[in-house]
Amino acid sequence: MSYYEILGGRPLSGSLAVHGAKNSVLPILAACLLSPGQSVIHNCPDLSDVSATMDILRLLGCRVEREGGTVTIDASALSRWDIPEHLMREMRSSVIFLGALLARLGTAELSYPGGCELGPRPIDLHLSALRALGAEIWEEQGALCCQGRGSLRGRELCLSIPSVGATENAMLAACSCPGLTTIVGAAQEPEIVDLQNFLQAMGAKVVGAGTPNLTIEGGVPLHPAEYRVMGDRIAAATYLCGVAAAGGEAEVTGVSPDTLTAVLACLEEAGCTLHTSADSIVLSCDAPLRGINPVRTAPYPGFPTDAQAILMAALAGGEGVTLFVENIFDSRYRHVDELRRMGADIQIAGRAAMVSGVGRLHGAAVRSTDLRGGAALVVAALGAEGTTKVGQLRHIRRGYQDFDKNLRALGADIREVP
Ligand code: UD1
Repeated sequence: MSYYEILGGRPLSGSLAVHGAKNSVLPILAACLLSPGQSVIHNCPDLSDVSATMDILRLLGCRVEREGGTVTIDASALSRWDIPEHLMREMRSSVIFLGALLARLGTAELSYPGGCELGPRPIDLHLSALRALGAEIWEEQGALCCQGRGSLRGRELCLSIPSVGATENAMLAACSCPGLTTIVGAAQEPEIVDLQNFLQAMGAKVVGAGTPNLTIEGGVPLHPAEYRVMGDRIAAATYLCGVAAAGGEAEVTGVSPDTLTAVLACLEEAGCTLHTSADSIVLSCDAPLRGINPVRTAPYPGFPTDAQAILMAALAGGEGVTLFVENIFDSRYRHVDELRRMGADIQIAGRAAMVSGVGRLHGAAVRSTDLRGGAALVVAALGAEGTTKVGQLRHIRRGYQDFDKNLRALGADIREVP
């Protein structure tokens, strides 16, 4: 199994363009099912989660081709509405096909989704939203069967938690529901806005994304569309935290700083200097990072849970104390044991983690525990003294394209050892 070998302590410099957002491209590719014909999606990152999504589309009967960052999906002739277990296990977000298949064919059959190990990740909100729209859903031999032919109708939905996935599933299904659907308590993440923009490009009447109230006038005919996916704000946050950990000055482009307000505020408080333009961020850091006010993860526009491990890794090698509170997922401190191998001083009590900066981490042999946890270990290694080996790269490949190559371009000493 291959691993990254990273010799830390080299300041980073230069500029890199972040790839398209993983969490946007997955629902957007699923949304291509909503209309027969050929949609063209630009800025599609080459990630294992995206390949898995393309495999699912092919299995359903789509013609799918990639040329560089552009993926073409011809959804004219769907031949199936079921997704077998081995494809569903690849990633949790495959549950998004429930709403998309219901919208296009009125029927879907999926096994329970897999994905990152972040504690229990139920899909009850997805199912109750689809049921409220008129779908009948039952379990049969470990598979979820959904039937909505002739019974789907627009109506008001209330989400008790602003779930990103449940909001997206409800948006897709509602596009085919005659009448008006309102989603109250919707997730406000920028990726929801990106999905809305794509659906609008297909002719859908969806408004309100980015606020807690979404409105969809369903049943209008949709057509294929050409669309460019937004930049990946979590990949951008990762590279910025890498520069903060290692020191130096670097620019990330292709991402709107407005989507990263909470993360940028923390980096600034920790002593980094930031300059932003409409689609780029320059970060410079020439002193050890300071401890900052408590970082509490929250739905957007709060501090993103996906950046928790990454910022923690940077601060663990700084100076001063920072309290983290993880409010979104139950089991999202699995990277902490690995950071401790690098000399980090982190105490966990339930949802809280107290990070006491040790001045400098040291190299060690560590393993990625999940996607962002793995990226966090690389961030820590960039600032650490000596050599770190990061194993279990399959987690990192779910969300970062050319991770080592991009970091080398910034001057990092990182290589993949097969
Ligand atoms: C999405 C992102 C993921 C990010 C997360 C939170 C994608 C592909 N993934 O995941 O990177 O970490 O948002 O920003 O976009 N919940 C329920 N019942 C449900 C659904 C969710 O209780 O039916 C709970 C979850 O357990 C969690 C919270 O709601 O505690 C938020 O989850 P959700 O927003 O749904 O996350 P995902 O869409 O899975």
